[in-house]
Amino acid sequence: MRSTVLDEAGLVRWGREVGAVASREGIFVALTGPLGAGKTRLTQAACAGAGVGEAVTSPTYTLVHWYSGSRGPVGHADLYRLRDPSELLALGWEELEAHPGAVFVEWAERAGDELPMDRWEVRLEFADGAGGAADALRRVTARGLGRVAPVPDPGPYADGAETSAC
Ligand SMILES: Nc1ncnc2c1ncn2[C@@H]1O[C@H](COP(=O)(O)OP(=O)(O)O)[C@@H](O)[C@H]1O
Ligand SMILES: [Mg+2]
Repeated sequence: MRSTVLDEAGLVRWGREVGAVASREGIFVALTGPLGAGKTRLTQAACAGAGVGEAVTSPTYTLVHWYSGSRGPVGHADLYRLRDPSELLALGWEELEAHPGAVFVEWAERAGDELPMDRWEVRLEFADGAGGAADALRRVTARGLGRVAPVPDPGPYADGAETSAC
């Protein structure tokens, strides 16, 4: 598992690589972390990396968006409003799960056992530091579960920020 502190520019650059690899390999990407941590920002960068030309917005109210990427459709879901995994069927979860291309799911932990075994998990957290610019830093932890291609290493995008293996 890799954990790295990224500023927004670094997160966006890493996100583009994440999107390029995820769309090429057809990866389900489970995003976790508190409100405002950057799950939507990362998805926007990843969609750009997957060749999505249109604006990517938060799907909080509609729960699932589909975008047209250069290798096919890219799915984006936000489970913030999900009260129970049993509600997943109604929002097209089976289609998301079976999708051969890239899928990005915010608040993925709310899907519980319904998450596919093969996936990337990306956790974003506010990086604590001494005020000011530290507000714009996020700790990124990324790993692959099951039979998936390796997650791009966020380390090279850290721009001198701290990186640690865990
Ligand atoms: N290092 C960073 N990584 C990601 N977003 C950052 C970073 N620094 C500041 N931000 C800002 O934090 C906000 C994250 O919002 P958003 O992506 O909507 O969060 P979430 O989807 O996790 O609730 C954006 O306004 C973004 O510009
Ligand atoms: Mg969001």
